[in-house]
Parts: sequence; C-alpha cells; structure tokens
Amino acid sequence: MSAKETIAILGGTGDLGTGLAIRWSKAGYNIVIGSRTQEKADAAVAALAEISPNTPAQAMENAAAAAAGDIVVLTVPADHQISTLDGVKDSLKGKILIDVTVPLVPPKVGTVQMPPEGSAGKRAQDHLGEDVHVVSAFQNIAAHLLQQDVVIECDVLVAGNNKESRQRVIDLIKEAGMNGWHAGPIANAAAAEALTSILIQINRSGIVSHSGIKIIGQEH
Ligand SMILES: NC(=O)c1ccc[n+]([C@@H]2O[C@H](COP(=O)([O-])OP(=O)(O)OC[C@H]3O[C@@H](n4cnc5c(N)ncnc54)[C@H](OP(=O)(O)O)[C@@H]3O)[C@@H](O)[C@H]2O)c1
Repeated sequence: MSAKETIAILGGTGDLGTGLAIRWSKAGYNIVIGSRTQEKADAAVAALAEISPNTPAQAMENAAAAAAGDIVVLTVPADHQISTLDGVKDSLKGKILIDVTVPLVPPKVGTVQMPPEGSAGKRAQDHLGEDVHVVSAFQNIAAHLLQQDVVIECDVLVAGNNKESRQRVIDLIKEAGMNGWHAGPIANAAAAEALTSILIQINRSGIVSHSGIKIIGQEH
C-alpha cells in the first residue's frame, strides 16, 4: 500500500477517536493515537491492531502525537478542548486541525448552549491563530456507528476558513465512508454543533434512533 499521510488523534483512546481511527486505518492511513498517558495509548493501539492489522499505528502522549501527525484531530471533551490545545499548540503550525467538539452542557444536553465565542470550532481557531487551519467536522456522527462496520447515512458539515483544508477533510470523510459538505467559514461550525442537541431531542422522541442529516438538491 502506498504511504498515506499520518493522522494523529489526540484523545484517540475515547469513543469518537476510536471510531475515526478504525475508519482511517482501514483506509490505509498511518494512525497515531494520542493520550495523556502512554499506557492508555498503547492499549488503544493494541485494540486497533486487532481490527485493522495491516496498517501501522503508533501510540504516543498527546504532545508527541501532535508533532508526529501531518493532520491532527482533537477528540477530547469540550471542557478540555483548550487545555489540550495549549499542550500541543506549537506542533500544529501549518497543519490542519480537525475539531470534533460539541459544546454540550450537561445536564441539558438537548438544549443548545453555545459558548461565548460562538462555537467550539471558532474558539479553537481564535485560540490557535490563523497559522493553524482549524476544520470543524463530525459533530453529528455517533461514535459507535463509526466503530462498527455499517453504512453511515448521516452527512458531515465541514466548516473552516481555508477552502483547501476543508476540501482535504471532505476527502478524508469520503474515505471514512461518509459525505462531507463545504459549510463555509469556521464561524459556521455553530450550526453543526447546535444541531447535535436537536438530534438528541429527535432521538428522545422514540420514533427513530441515530437521527442524522442528509443534504439534498438537484445535481448540476
Ligand atoms: N461520542 C460521540 O458520539 C461524539 C459524536 C460527535 C462528536 N463528539 C465529540 O468528540 C469529543 C470526544 O468525545 P468522546 O465521546 O470520544 O469523549 P470521551 O470518550 O469521553 O473522551 C475522549 C478522550 O478524552 C480524553 N480526556 C478525558 N478527560 C480529559 C482531560 N481532563 N484532559 C484531556 N483529555 C481528556 C481521554 O483520553 P486519555 O485519558 O487517553 O487522555 C478520553 O479517552 C467531544 O468533544 C464530543 O463532543 C462525540
């Protein structure tokens, strides 16, 4: 298999990071699982090797993972988004940072409660500066669907200030088995982040589970 880029997933030991690691590893990407502890990263890589034995993967602490990644993905809970970025900031310059954060505020996770910056994606971009291409994606995708070998019907809204970086992430989304759409600048991450609370409400109705969105239109 030809060498593809290295994707480093910070907090890649968690639910969403595990799902993305499985999908991109199966697509042939070299995966680096980042964690606060080497032991947790080692265990996650061992589990990934069981599922995707033919693609290399490495385990590192988050700072080393961010340095090793050509593309870096942040998959930690919203409360720890900025503190985690602070620990890796210098390694992100010139790279794409995919931010998946949904700023849910328990216990009212079915109510939209956006942060003062407007969205978690915008908060990350403001914090890191324009040297880092923050691209917001995956807010409406359930982690356990990513982890399973199933077709995911839900589309992915992709927001970021740099169009080429958005397109790169849309290509990665395709390789992970979903459709991504240009959703405009990082400020527009607010829409996908807010939508998660709406989908939670729809799931609670009991009529469907795993609700999602699909973009429709007439083809040109
Ligand atoms: N779960 C979903 O279905 C889903 C869907 C869409 C978006 N998201 C978003 O994806 C992100 C991750 O969600 P998740 O469900 O995967 O979360 P999670 O499993 O609860 O946590 C992910 C990882 O974050 C790290 N972490 C935990 N506490 C931390 C702290 N205090 N400081 C730094 N790192 C810490 C842990 O890694 P280590 O202990 O190894 O460091 C953990 O494995 C969230 O922002 C969420 O909004 C989730």
